[in-house]
Amino acid sequence: MDKKIILSGIQATGKLTLGNYLGAIDNWVKMQEEYDCYYMIANLHSLTVRNDPEELKNNTLKILAIYIAAGLDPNKNTIFIQSQIKEHAELGWILDCYTYMGELSRMTQFKDKSAKHADNINAGLFTYPVLMAADILLYQADLVPVGEDQRQHLEITRDIAERFNKVYGKTFVIPDAYVRKESARIMGLQDPESKMSKSATNLNDVIFLEDEPEVILKKFKKAVTDSENKVKFDPENKPGVSNLMQIYSSITSKTMPEIESEFNGKGYGDFKMTVANSVIDKLKPIQEKYKEILNNKEYLEEIYTKGAENARKMASKTLEDVKQKIGIL
Ligand code: TRP
Repeated sequence: MDKKIILSGIQATGKLTLGNYLGAIDNWVKMQEEYDCYYMIANLHSLTVRNDPEELKNNTLKILAIYIAAGLDPNKNTIFIQSQIKEHAELGWILDCYTYMGELSRMTQFKDKSAKHADNINAGLFTYPVLMAADILLYQADLVPVGEDQRQHLEITRDIAERFNKVYGKTFVIPDAYVRKESARIMGLQDPESKMSKSATNLNDVIFLEDEPEVILKKFKKAVTDSENKVKFDPENKPGVSNLMQIYSSITSKTMPEIESEFNGKGYGDFKMTVANSVIDKLKPIQEKYKEILNNKEYLEEIYTKGAENARKMASKTLEDVKQKIGIL
């Protein structure tokens, strides 16, 4: 039987964080044997906020370098840059015409982002989920690994696909969100009630994948905990400690009870040091490889060129089918 198709991506805005790694990329690496995977860098989605052109270009390559350094094999997966496949923008426009204003107005990410960028509520921010639907539907993805915050975008993707299929006959696979139970939702170190975000204003809130060991250690030392001085998993009442446990658990594969007993009778000082060191050790080889790859622009170009060629095969086939069905010459 054919392998199931997986598609996922990360926006090319800002620096990648430990949250992106543990919550997404590290899981993608684990899925590369079992599935036919498409992993993209969503640089068109990045345009919904203002970017410095050089920075956007660099960020795109940096994310690609991280993908590879983290263990995604370019020979096993289709790794590509969204903007290099013109079909995304084209299907995005077509699907805009099969999506209702009312649906898009209900997207919580749109509401949050409009509140955050009140001076630039552009139409792209509004139709963002439709471009994401195009990303997914072009590749006939069965499963889309996403964080909890993207679940609503997956729902609208399914709605759009079902609507289209109903009118024109089966055209798109209806994708399922793949929110892994054990996959970590990493929260901020200073504000453990919110997801660790690359756009956080307090830099101590976020571990960036490029952070040096000293910086990582310092940030963990400053991480918010509570006054109980007891390592116990209780996200509701002990969000800070529970988040540190989550990070430690993702890295070591230890269970929460195992971690609780490991630190039984020890204070938060010890605990934070151990978590910080586990992160430092885990990131070290990735960081080394990342630096090496990032300096090798030819290698990066080779990867994304090959990825684009591969992606285009699938994307053009789907788009052709769509155009024929709706009567676009
Ligand atoms: N919107 C996603 C995010 O911010 C990134 C993304 C773009 C994506 N296109 C996608 C994720 C397609 C999964 C599938 O996290």
